[in-house]
Amino acid sequence: MEPHQVKVLDKVVVLDFGSQFTQLIARRVRECNIYSEILPFDTPIEEIKKLNPKALILSGGPSSVYDDEAPIASEDIIELGIPILGICYGMQLIGHYFGAKIKAASKREYGRAELTIVGEDALFDGFNGKSTVWMSHADKIEELPQGFKKLGYSDNSEFAAIRHIEKSIYGLQFHPEVAHTENGSLIIENFVRKVSEISGDWTTQVFIEEAIDDIRNRVGDEKVLCAVSGGVDSTVMAVLLNRALGKNVTCVFIDTGLLRLNEAEQTMKMFSGIDGMNVQLFDRKENFYSALAGISDPEVKRKAIGKTFIDVFSEIADKFDEHKYLAQGTLYPDVIESRPVKGPSETIKSHHNVGGLPKEMNFELIEPFRELFKDEVRIVGREFGLSEEVIGRHPFPGPGLAIRCPGEVTEKNLKLLQLADDIFISELHKSGYYDKVWQAFAVLLPVKSVGVMGDKRTYSKVISLRTVTSVDGMTADWGHLPHELLGKISDRIINEVEGVNRVLYDISSKPPATIEWE
Ligand code: XMP
Repeated sequence: MEPHQVKVLDKVVVLDFGSQFTQLIARRVRECNIYSEILPFDTPIEEIKKLNPKALILSGGPSSVYDDEAPIASEDIIELGIPILGICYGMQLIGHYFGAKIKAASKREYGRAELTIVGEDALFDGFNGKSTVWMSHADKIEELPQGFKKLGYSDNSEFAAIRHIEKSIYGLQFHPEVAHTENGSLIIENFVRKVSEISGDWTTQVFIEEAIDDIRNRVGDEKVLCAVSGGVDSTVMAVLLNRALGKNVTCVFIDTGLLRLNEAEQTMKMFSGIDGMNVQLFDRKENFYSALAGISDPEVKRKAIGKTFIDVFSEIADKFDEHKYLAQGTLYPDVIESRPVKGPSETIKSHHNVGGLPKEMNFELIEPFRELFKDEVRIVGREFGLSEEVIGRHPFPGPGLAIRCPGEVTEKNLKLLQLADDIFISELHKSGYYDKVWQAFAVLLPVKSVGVMGDKRTYSKVISLRTVTSVDGMTADWGHLPHELLGKISDRIINEVEGVNRVLYDISSKPPATIEWE
């Protein structure tokens, strides 16, 4: 399928040299209502020209410009005559183009540093003097490239910020795109708005209008099938399709039996409150339970669930063979990560695509959110008037509670887990901590321990609770919940969930632990 082409006028192209922060750069630009697109560093100049970008940002990356295999973008980008901002490796590349020596450092500079700004420049409008920035680099520029001047320095980097004297070409040794850089977003905003003079026409309204037009043009009078899970992405997508096509959209919701307590009923109720939605529920619990019987190995479990999902979905899809299209909630990070450049961004491909459907299915795909980041999907959802309860939901894995039951998944285990999880989540809501953490859930451990209840010895199951704070789930810190709250939740679980006599709290960060136990 030809991806939908965004019709906005003002675009910023981010060339990716393999930094783990490339997506953050694009997001920061979009937060200024300016559309940005990430392209591999070796995109031919003709293709870049076709997009008619108003500015270019060169990302960081793990290489050294002198490496044999270093990703070097064509120097023709300078001839485009548009403003260029090079970040970290991108700055060294600019230095390399303009003949500066780059010093291969023996030791990485990593962490916070103090930037001292010298002179005045639109890039640092709104700053005064000093600012905390985040560094993560090995190499650095040792001398000013030809025709450049210094805009700032730090203890370790004589040239922490530079610009060309005549052209709007900038280099930053630090990362303005990360949250640890104080006013980093302002630097990016200054670059796109003040230096590049882009006014910005990328708004949620524009996205929605374009997406609706596009869906109508492609689909015409045909019908679209859309699988929903109650999660943010599929819910917002279903509403968008509904706005575009009305009754020609059929949503299917599969109850895998691996959902949270009463989740199927609650999700159906939520959909019934949205005008004009046609959502059909398919109870396929038994298929999943029988596929999981006797399996303890996490990978085998995942495969069994993935295969069952495909089988069940194929069987359901057959009932809807008058539907020509299938809607899929692909997001922009999925699109970028399927074409990684060399470097750390390559390893950021997730292993989680249980919902992936077989190619041989007789549908044409539509992917209305191919250009959106998750935060942008949330904004679209708000624009549609969806409740914060839906928009603010924690991520929930496709294989559901099965990966929160290490060992064998049985209906009995699932029931215990659902009850404990429900107590945990409802206490987090009550105390206001649900929105302070990125994800929270209970895990039922495959061990028993001794306890005493009344006068009786018990030998029962153990629940482990986990909350994490995170930006994107790639890395995460364990959530620091108050002890009183943990105590209250533990008491409730042990008293109310028969078969559980001990509650633990997981204080592992990712890495080295993962978020889920599996
Ligand atoms: P891990 O456990 O890898 O999880 O640290 C990172 C994030 O991904 C979620 N996750 C999944 N999401 N299908 C999904 O849609 C899956 O198979 C899956 N496995 C893990 C996990 O809940 C966390 O938010």
